[in-house]
Amino acid sequence: MAELAGKKVRDSLTEQVQLVQSQHINGYQRLFGGQLMAWMDIVAGVTARRHCGRQVTTASVDDLQFLAPAYIDDLLIIRGRVTHVGRTSMEIRVDVEVEGIDNSRKALNRAHFVMVAIDEHDHPVMVPPLILETEEERQEWEDAEKRKTLRKHRRTIKI
Ligand SMILES: CC(C)(COP(=O)(O)OP(=O)(O)OC[C@H]1O[C@@H](n2cnc3c(N)ncnc32)[C@H](O)[C@@H]1OP(=O)(O)O)[C@@H](O)C(=O)NCCC(=O)NCCS
Repeated sequence: MAELAGKKVRDSLTEQVQLVQSQHINGYQRLFGGQLMAWMDIVAGVTARRHCGRQVTTASVDDLQFLAPAYIDDLLIIRGRVTHVGRTSMEIRVDVEVEGIDNSRKALNRAHFVMVAIDEHDHPVMVPPLILETEEERQEWEDAEKRKTLRKHRRTIKI
């Protein structure tokens, strides 16, 4: 099969801004974690779709870390970037920061999503190679290779 044209990391960078409102709050007056995960999943999906130009589905999420709480009226900045691609899968790193009224930023959450490109019959389909341009992108790729090996290992363990 012919090789697809490569895409750069910056071609699919995605940023979404969310204002935390009353409907997003749990009984402890903090942002409901499931709501944040839904927003992150959407950003991961859009980033992956921009890279591969296909419909995508979420295969797994790991390293999801809630680093700090968020409250009503907080502004959340949710960013997605492709860190690795396989044959049909893409790893998307999603970072969430909370922006203060003074424009200060604080890390709130981070996760790595594996998104798989699917065709019209719901079968995994090849994705374009990722063109790495910076040292940071090359380092992220190497780290992602290690995560991919860990994920494969985890899938062989019955829990
Ligand atoms: C993800 C899915 C399409 C994979 O289909 P599959 O028949 O297992 O396909 P394959 O075994 O060929 O795997 C395809 C790719 O997905 C990766 N993959 C499959 N399952 C994975 C998992 N649990 N975690 C991470 N990667 C996974 C494989 O490593 C492979 O990557 P590569 O092509 O880059 O090497 C399929 O399991 C699926 O549809 N799952 C449900 C997804 C869904 O509905 N998500 C929405 C939330 S409910």
